[in-house]
Amino acid sequence: MADIFEKLLRNQGPLGQHRKRAHGYFSFPKLEGEIGNRMKFRGKEKIVWSLNNYLGLANHPEVRKADADAAAKYGLALPMGARMMSGNSDLHEQLEAELAAYEAKEDAILLNFGYQGMVSVIDVLVGRHDVIVYDAESHACIIDGVRLHPGHRYVFKHNDVEDCEKQLQRATALIEKQGAGGILLITEGVFGMAGDQGKLKEVVALKSKYSFRILLDDAHGFGTLGKTGAGASEEQGVQDEIDLYFSTFAKSMASIGAFVAGDKAIIDYIRYSIRSQIFAKSLPMPLVVGNLKRLELLRNHPEYKDKLWSNARKLQNGLKEKGFDIGKTDSVVSPVYMKGGVEEATTMVMDLRENYNIFCSIVLYPVIPKGHIIFRLIPTAVHTDEDIALTLKAFEETKEKLDLGAYRTEAIPDMANA
Ligand SMILES: Cc1ncc(COP(=O)(O)O)c(C=O)c1O
Repeated sequence: MADIFEKLLRNQGPLGQHRKRAHGYFSFPKLEGEIGNRMKFRGKEKIVWSLNNYLGLANHPEVRKADADAAAKYGLALPMGARMMSGNSDLHEQLEAELAAYEAKEDAILLNFGYQGMVSVIDVLVGRHDVIVYDAESHACIIDGVRLHPGHRYVFKHNDVEDCEKQLQRATALIEKQGAGGILLITEGVFGMAGDQGKLKEVVALKSKYSFRILLDDAHGFGTLGKTGAGASEEQGVQDEIDLYFSTFAKSMASIGAFVAGDKAIIDYIRYSIRSQIFAKSLPMPLVVGNLKRLELLRNHPEYKDKLWSNARKLQNGLKEKGFDIGKTDSVVSPVYMKGGVEEATTMVMDLRENYNIFCSIVLYPVIPKGHIIFRLIPTAVHTDEDIALTLKAFEETKEKLDLGAYRTEAIPDMANA
């Protein structure tokens, strides 16, 4: 019989195989200091483009004070137990009510994490006769929720409304044949890698022809899109047609936790049935209080979103003017597409970090096809014009070196912790 551990250790996986050379640098890097546009990496200041601190709330003085005061007042333990048993509080319910109001929904329920919450929301909504229709480039938490589903699932080509309709037809036909079940359509407000918004208007329009409910993951749209910052569905004028609106607190809110909002009756059903909350301790009080403060700032300071967009436009326009391919982004997520192998890409990242003091993330095979590189830049409200200018210059110079083959090497640079 095979030893499970032996098999795992023989093949470390597409990312794990680089661990010895990459750990602590390309993977698991340690950014130090206050969260902001500039942070320290291996002792030197870098301009950081890797954090979803969109509105700059992570280090906002009022946020820091609210977090610290709540930790001092309540500690991390309170409340103990799951919400349903002994872990409820007025403040948990207040945060839910404020989130629901912000999203123009009747009710909302808190989730401890986005990833785990989404998996469990999907699980609680569907039974074996139901069919899930979902976008091919959905975030891992959606894919994993779908994997738990005991019934059928149909995937549509990324943001392809025609194919989405085709899959809705297949799902409808199957349900009619079964004589039981319904359809849950899952998509995203903003796809986090490429930055393109989900075609929510077009998907919602299909409701006139097919019977289905929509669950929207708007992790990157929440706080960054829409007139009031309520997200991609507000931006596209279809908030009322989104049956369940979900977002994590891990991005614009620079915190931990998540929520899902919708009609009171269905949120109540979820509240009494969702396994990730019923069988887990509720969010600690400092997180609830901290999230209330963040939501207050989100609501009352539209200038943070305006500054974020002003920075995003400067960065994206600058990249385009210099001839870079930034794909189809219509959000603040700013991908830069280039061609090259993993070895070249990592050597270029090292040059950017060591010689230009630019810290950004790369997306490589197997997340995207071999030979392609995406540098993923996340602008925030706290970046400066100088940060943007230095970054554009660095990209121009390093791209020239990439095109000349200056980064070609046999192996990825050995930058692991000494
Ligand atoms: C689209 C999307 N959904 C869900 C999550 C997971 O959220 P969390 O970090 O709160 O687990 C993320 C990333 O963090 C995300 O990008």
